[in-house]
Amino acid sequence: MKILFIGDICGSPGRQTVGEVLPKLRKQKGVDLVIANVENIAHGKGITEKTLREVMSYGVDFMTSGNHVWKKPGFEDILESDFPIIRPLNYPDDLPGKGYGEVDLGKKGKLLILNLLGWGGMNERTISEPFREIDAFLRSINPKDYSGILLDIHAESTAEKVSMGAYLDGRVSSIIGTHTHIPTADERILPKGSTYITDVGMTGPLNSVLWVDSDIIIQQNMYPYSPSYEIVEDGPMRFDSVILEVENPCKGQKIERLNKIL
Ligand code: FE2
Repeated sequence: MKILFIGDICGSPGRQTVGEVLPKLRKQKGVDLVIANVENIAHGKGITEKTLREVMSYGVDFMTSGNHVWKKPGFEDILESDFPIIRPLNYPDDLPGKGYGEVDLGKKGKLLILNLLGWGGMNERTISEPFREIDAFLRSINPKDYSGILLDIHAESTAEKVSMGAYLDGRVSSIIGTHTHIPTADERILPKGSTYITDVGMTGPLNSVLWVDSDIIIQQNMYPYSPSYEIVEDGPMRFDSVILEVENPCKGQKIERLNKIL
């Protein structure tokens, strides 16, 4: 199974970039499944039905998220519906949504997709410790039920993501980092065979801080008072992704980074 994983799609500039790049890329690379992190898809924070449907119309099949998934009204209905979207597994069970989802592509195989939130620097009081959480989850399933298992580890700390890679090497096919919006150049096959990258990056405005107007973030660093976040709507856009090949629940076959500037 050939999978394209797209880094955090940020607001309407990110959605438009997906619309420009994905339909052609999907055909060109012969991709079977497109997964994207969408926690910032609606004006830079949160999800809405309209924005999710827009990227699905360009060819996104399944979506992961993170700590911003709760930021727009209506998230409960979306996460509780049969929309192909998951939220991090280590939030409490009484919150809407699930931390895992399956995609069955028939002869191409069945993929289990997991989403987990990092611990360090996230300021999320309600999450549980991610290493024990994912360990318990993986013990509760039979890996042989799947032809691939992919984890989106949405975390701030590079060390935590590298540690998660080492912890899950040989237990899942791929460990894919998101959240910092900065693509890392460390994609590789780990010693026990899982494919890994610390951060896929983002899809949205290049000349910004994550997606926010740089002047606003500079002011935020310099003054205790500062304007609210505004998304950069124009200028060059980046499209950050990885292409993965998966045929085994505990091993990845290939990982290739694909970063474009438009
Ligand atoms: Fe995030």
